Amino acid sequence: MLEEKKIAIIGPGVMGNTIALSLIQTGKLSPQQIIMAGPNQDRLNQLQAELGVRISNNHEAAGAADVVILAVKPQRLDQAAQSIKSALCPGKLVISILAGVPLAALEQKLGTRCLVRAMPNTPARIGMGITVWTKAADVDDEQHETAARIMQTLGEEIFVADEAYLDMATALSGTGPAYVFLFMEAMIDAGVHMGFPRRIAEQLVIQTLRGSTEFYLQSREHPAQLRNDVTSPGGTSAEALYYLEKAGFRTAVSRAIWAAYQRGIELGKGISKQGLEG
Ligand SMILES: NC(=O)c1ccc[n+]([C@@H]2O[C@H](COP(=O)([O-])OP(=O)(O)OC[C@H]3O[C@@H](n4cnc5c(N)ncnc54)[C@H](OP(=O)(O)O)[C@@H]3O)[C@@H](O)[C@H]2O)c1
Repeated sequence: MLEEKKIAIIGPGVMGNTIALSLIQTGKLSPQQIIMAGPNQDRLNQLQAELGVRISNNHEAAGAADVVILAVKPQRLDQAAQSIKSALCPGKLVISILAGVPLAALEQKLGTRCLVRAMPNTPARIGMGITVWTKAADVDDEQHETAARIMQTLGEEIFVADEAYLDMATALSGTGPAYVFLFMEAMIDAGVHMGFPRRIAEQLVIQTLRGSTEFYLQSREHPAQLRNDVTSPGGTSAEALYYLEKAGFRTAVSRAIWAAYQRGIELGKGISKQGLEG
């Protein structure tokens, strides 16, 4: 039962804080069941004051918890792994949200196969995220359920047996909010360029994105069909879509996501290589 667990969050940054908040706000855990650890004492004191969580150093936090969530930047993995490795008694579940770090590298650095690798995204901050996750060989059914319930506090979750999907999810949904925010910003700026006050341009763009997403969900039509429905011959949509296609919009999106995917794989190989050399 998740409600009975103690959870250590190693890395009290944007995502670590999001996970702590989600666990508390959804009522799954009391603040006292969460132990946060990181290098910056002022930051930890602030979190203790704001959220009521317990704070400690990496080793003690990992030792006292049933589940350890690793939320440091991939570049800090070696340092963090060294500090918690000896506190990971057999059967203690570790959940890593580090982008691009494969299970094999985590196993090598942490000395355990009781591992989950997850890729959340930032809308998790309002419980609207989506997390794709997978697990290593030693995660039992109860730990699988615990991991799923932790992810559910962040929004939707999808378990995949094949780890290859994690790098794909990193490029599509993990990095996805960045593409959407860029598109949003470009539309708002275009509105301002035409002469709208920024506040109105923002309102128009936000509700257009929100409404289009909800309309797509409810209509269950293919996006191309919904697009065709608003494209009258010789009209404004046809003109705008012609320019977008001519500028290579669809190819740019596809190539950008492919580039993010390749970059994730490259970073993962670098980290695995460091592990083997270290
Ligand atoms: N942000 C996203 O959209 C997103 C989405 C999915 C997954 N992720 C993954 O989530 C992880 C964290 O990302 P983030 O955006 O939350 O980064 P972040 O805000 O920089 O947080 C990282 C935290 O780790 C702390 N830290 C550094 N070295 C440490 C150590 N040795 N032991 C314990 N804590 C240490 C940092 O403290 P200091 O700041 O004091 O150094 C900071 O509080 C990354 O691996 C990233 O790939 C991020």
